[in-house]
Amino acid sequence: MAKLLKNLTNKQILVGITGGIAAYKSAELVRRLRDGGAEVRVVMTRAATEFITPLTMQALSGHPVSLDLLDTESEQAMGHIDLARWADAIIVAPASADFIARLAQGRADDLLATICLATAAPVAVAPAMNQQMWANQATGDNLAILAKRDIKQFGPGVGAQACGDVGAGRMLEAEALTQLTGELFQQGGLQDLKVVITAGPTWEAIDAIRGLSNRSSGRMGYAVAEAAMEAGAKVVLVSGPVSLPKPERVQVESVRSAEEMCQAVLTQIKGADIFIGVAAVADYRPAKVSTKKVKSIDETLTLELVKNPDILATVAALKPRPFTVGFAAESHDLETYARAKLKAKNLDLIAANSISAKPGTNATSGFESENNQILLIDRENNIITLEQQPKTKLARLLIQHISKKYHAQNTTKNSRQASR
Ligand code: PMT
Repeated sequence: MAKLLKNLTNKQILVGITGGIAAYKSAELVRRLRDGGAEVRVVMTRAATEFITPLTMQALSGHPVSLDLLDTESEQAMGHIDLARWADAIIVAPASADFIARLAQGRADDLLATICLATAAPVAVAPAMNQQMWANQATGDNLAILAKRDIKQFGPGVGAQACGDVGAGRMLEAEALTQLTGELFQQGGLQDLKVVITAGPTWEAIDAIRGLSNRSSGRMGYAVAEAAMEAGAKVVLVSGPVSLPKPERVQVESVRSAEEMCQAVLTQIKGADIFIGVAAVADYRPAKVSTKKVKSIDETLTLELVKNPDILATVAALKPRPFTVGFAAESHDLETYARAKLKAKNLDLIAANSISAKPGTNATSGFESENNQILLIDRENNIITLEQQPKTKLARLLIQHISKKYHAQNTTKNSRQASR
């Protein structure tokens, strides 16, 4: 149970409550989901409010309850589309026979049905009804339609019913529903792991207002951080100066220079399982930094530069060290240079991206762009190509590969230790 509950950490769960006596169990469900680390919002049908008050659900969820589709006030706060997008999963518990029928018909005649229609998140129903209604062919047909649309069915259980009947149709208990909700997220792959990621450029000061930097926007690193968080990891993002919004549910440590980035990484790396260096770290910094603005008097100015610490190589040299992934931005001979960096910095995996446009296309990738393409190279020289696509999608694929490699390596390590 405890393991599955951890799948709920940071997850945003929308609990839908429809009209049925089992609605009282939804209060316990919301409490358990929150105990598991999920953020919960509740949407109730009007019929549900006859069985349990919105105030109870508001107190338990910590958010106002949404009731109506055409309520200007709540649409302004968080409208039906916002709620549909917000949810990582929707659990309708109890799901009445009427609601199941409306869902099967694809109706959008109340807030809950509309959200279920408008979401891309997984939806699950926990049926609750009289045993005769459950046994009715119409209910069976409706549920078969939902199953075809990949809407999950949690339960029902069998036993004594509020109406005095005995049979199938009881809503599952909150504990079982919490466990099944956790299982929806089991495919994440990085549950219980700490992942430290660097992103963006660094800023190496010359004087009070000038500095050396590069064109990294932070987009790739931020997308990798979000993908790792979605896969269930506790993510620390050490970010150089960028103008991106901070990703939700990610711990962001903002830094400016390579030295600051190195310090922050070495502080955060304790207990980390995976390190991914996406930042475009300046290799050099000015040897002297003037606290005043340097005057432009002479025709030429010579800057002496000194080498910055190599953050990635430093992490890879730690004992014990996390699974270490580097990036390589190259304008030519991508594979050759990436392989050389993998070896020189002693990495487990390197993601090589070309910073030149694809020949014959206007498509851009690498720095600043919304898109990227990657060659993934590991120590055994396996190469995987991740085609040009938005950085958000690419990051999810990258995290899947990292997760697979990380678990494969750990299984081998553990079985070696066990056989000693
Ligand atoms: O931020 P975006 O606009 O989205 O662009 C994304 C990106 C192109 C910056 C990103 O995809 C990328 O390729 N990042 C690494 C860029 C880079 O500087 O590569 P490099 O070859 O110089 O460094 C190789 C690796 O060593 C990188 O993982 C880098 O983070 C790390 N490094 C480099 C120097 C240094 N002093 N410390 C480091 O940790």
